[in-house]
Amino acid sequence: MDKNILDFETVSLNDEKSALVIIDQTLLPNEIKILELKTQDEIREAIYLLKVRGAPAIGVAAAIGIYLAAKENKSASFDEFYRGFKEAKNYLASSRPTAVNLFWALNRMEKIVLASKNKQIDEIKDALRREALKIRQEDISVCRKIGEFGADLLKNSCAVLTHCNAGQLATVKYGTALAPIYIGKERGYKIKVFADETRPLLQGARLTAFELSANGIDATLICDNTASQVMKNKWIDFVFVGCDRVAANGDICNKIGTSGLAVLCRYYNIPFYVCAPSSTIDMSIKTGADIPIEQRPPSEVTDLHFKNPIAPRNIKVYNPAFDVTDNSLVSALITEFGIIRTPYKENLAKLNLLNF
Ligand code: MRU
Repeated sequence: MDKNILDFETVSLNDEKSALVIIDQTLLPNEIKILELKTQDEIREAIYLLKVRGAPAIGVAAAIGIYLAAKENKSASFDEFYRGFKEAKNYLASSRPTAVNLFWALNRMEKIVLASKNKQIDEIKDALRREALKIRQEDISVCRKIGEFGADLLKNSCAVLTHCNAGQLATVKYGTALAPIYIGKERGYKIKVFADETRPLLQGARLTAFELSANGIDATLICDNTASQVMKNKWIDFVFVGCDRVAANGDICNKIGTSGLAVLCRYYNIPFYVCAPSSTIDMSIKTGADIPIEQRPPSEVTDLHFKNPIAPRNIKVYNPAFDVTDNSLVSALITEFGIIRTPYKENLAKLNLLNF
């Protein structure tokens, strides 16, 4: 039997080859191509170009990437080693600004270096390898827990609308927003999913529709501007989305188009759930207004995915990759620790998350 997309690892380490191994997500669903990335340039570019994407997967890729940089570091003294580490860290951190998992993972790796000052350089490299693999492994258990908590909110025979791709392709396994659907399926629930295509990079069409179908889920693809109509038709019971950063007050930042969905949910009285691993919660950011929003090239809107350009040359384009949804529109945050509801500021503070 042919392997399906869920049988491939989204992001892993091949230590013998000193390579970060990813699926090139820009080619999906037409081609499944596995990339072995060895240099820092290749790894940074893969994150920037969304060959590996989705907040948790970016974090894991960065952790493995910085381990590979450290492995190649030939310094004999700690100070020299640390200087090289910082350089590589800053380089990888410059790949994308919004998903906090990138910085969370890199900071976690830096903590390992700083705690190892008195160790041999080889021992530090070994500790970094273990930490990168731990971050990767934790992502699986965290997503599984989010899936279990999220599935408790679902019911048999229901319909979920989702935006972008917050599935297995955005994580190591299960996903965040799609995890409740996969766990719901394990529980025997019949769940229909409506996937927004997610302009302009089409993560919903290319990735969510692809992985849901591969997993035997009843999936329907809609254009982003169809969401209101399917809600009006009373076809949607829940909206589940992932996120790239949660501020300390519960404002959430996710793929552009998410905040519009949240507004629609309020109008149509549909629960709007945000699946957020703790690696996505940034307690150092007070409100969503302080979250850096990535701006992407105009060509993604005008040219990419089309045979011919679809807009006049030189038209002004506004192409933010993410938007912020006010916490007042969020029905609940689903974390690995459980379901968090308003008041978000107080309830998020109770998690005592470390500030990386
Ligand atoms: O630009 P992308 O594809 O990296 O954006 C991804 C998203 O916005 C996801 O919804 C988010 O990272 C959550 S992934 C579990």
